[in-house]
Amino acid sequence: MKKNDIIELIAGKMVHQGVCLSEYEGKKVFIENCIPGERVRVQIKKIKRDFCEAEAKEIILHSPSRINPQCQHFGLCGGCKIQYMNYEVQLENKKEIVKDALSRIGKLKNIEVENTIGSDRIYHYRNKMEYSFSNKRWLETGIEYSPEEKSFALGLHIPNVFDKVLHLNKCYLQSEFSNDVRNIIGKFFFNNKISVHSLKNRNGLLKALAIRESYNTPDKMINLITTQYDKDLMHELGNILNQNFPQVTTFVNSISMPHLSSALSHEEHVIFGKGYIQEVLLNKQFEIFANTFFQTNTHQAEKLFSIVKQIIRNDKTELKGKKPALIDLFCGVGVIGIVLADLFEFIYGIEISDSSIRAAKKNAEINNITNCEFFVTNLEHGFSLERFNRDQNDVTVILDPPRAGVSEKTLIQLCQIKPRRIYYVSCNPSTQARDVARLSDQYKVGLVQPIDFFPHTYHIENLIVLEIL
Ligand SMILES: C[S@@+](CC[C@H](N)C(=O)[O-])C[C@H]1O[C@@H](n2cnc3c(N)ncnc32)[C@H](O)[C@@H]1O
Repeated sequence: MKKNDIIELIAGKMVHQGVCLSEYEGKKVFIENCIPGERVRVQIKKIKRDFCEAEAKEIILHSPSRINPQCQHFGLCGGCKIQYMNYEVQLENKKEIVKDALSRIGKLKNIEVENTIGSDRIYHYRNKMEYSFSNKRWLETGIEYSPEEKSFALGLHIPNVFDKVLHLNKCYLQSEFSNDVRNIIGKFFFNNKISVHSLKNRNGLLKALAIRESYNTPDKMINLITTQYDKDLMHELGNILNQNFPQVTTFVNSISMPHLSSALSHEEHVIFGKGYIQEVLLNKQFEIFANTFFQTNTHQAEKLFSIVKQIIRNDKTELKGKKPALIDLFCGVGVIGIVLADLFEFIYGIEISDSSIRAAKKNAEINNITNCEFFVTNLEHGFSLERFNRDQNDVTVILDPPRAGVSEKTLIQLCQIKPRRIYYVSCNPSTQARDVARLSDQYKVGLVQPIDFFPHTYHIENLIVLEIL
């Protein structure tokens, strides 16, 4: 088999990153853009020692679950890559991805995985979208562009092409409002010939645009990320937003150094409004700032945290005089600890981001919660065990790490603390399976509950409840 060869295969089960696994001449073949069971003609794109990567070029036998993608940008945009699959089948495949990770990566056998809990909204479900500006627009075939258009785009990156952006007209991940705001802001900067940040030359003003819409309050934030503060320009844009979108409650301009990711800002200017939006999640209020993490699908987060709450409520274990304590690792702005606060005597939230910890303290305060403490710590290096007394406390742990999972140091410390239960929430079943395997000498796997926060993408959120042996 050589690169660019065309072969015919039957797509096997869906695995990590939404690709289907097949075999050809004894070698694993990962195929993009197909559905398990489909007969496909594929082109070999990459050949590695143990596997190859291929792209489906022609579907010879279609799955009955194949549907027409709704989005005009499908196929180019890196956003909703499995839109060609009926939603119920997306959910079944996400369950299979979790199962595959636990058995293949975690080597954990005979684990029951629950059916994936679907999202109520399958379009317009994200409460935050971040669009990039680029001076290199991705040029679509069949469209004529002016030189100015070629050097201006506001949209999403093309997969594997880090410097080119697909200029979007309509994105189904957020509401009509969000689309209208992005299009008007894009036109304003394009018509005024405002410079776009160039990754290569490290000059130009515009980096990114983030739009945050609360689910359970009317709050909406526009956050423009630029390399410098241009007061007059920002106030002009502020007036345009006020005139066209009275529903925008706050407009923030974040300043991010040219060589850094737009997520890292060192200065913030609140052009109008409070500088944050308020969201309500399981009857608790949260203030979300431009640079703080918040679960992007509020309703699904409510379902997930309700499951955790219910399990803790139903736990009738004798505490033998010990006080129930919760350690919320990777706590962000304190959401999980705060929604569970009435079930514990003490809550300790730990997180790397200074601004998230400040927001977590404020969030506890506005909800009149006094049993939470929050600490800034880099969990790559573990955390201080001094703060809570294991002999006096009955400890439960929540883990909700970023995609890279939990560090070795923190896992070793968890084995020293021996919490009775660990609730491991993850957006990456592969690193979750690896970490659960490392804890499996001391913990058995209980509930495994995938829940879909990200319809039409291969991403999956998964809860694993670990019980001490
Ligand atoms: C998936 S979010 C979870 C946030 C929170 N549990 C929630 O539900 O809103 C992961 C969090 O881990 C934090 N984080 C990333 N790397 C970290 C590290 N090395 N040490 C501590 N926290 C880290 C991020 O800042 C982010 O807030």
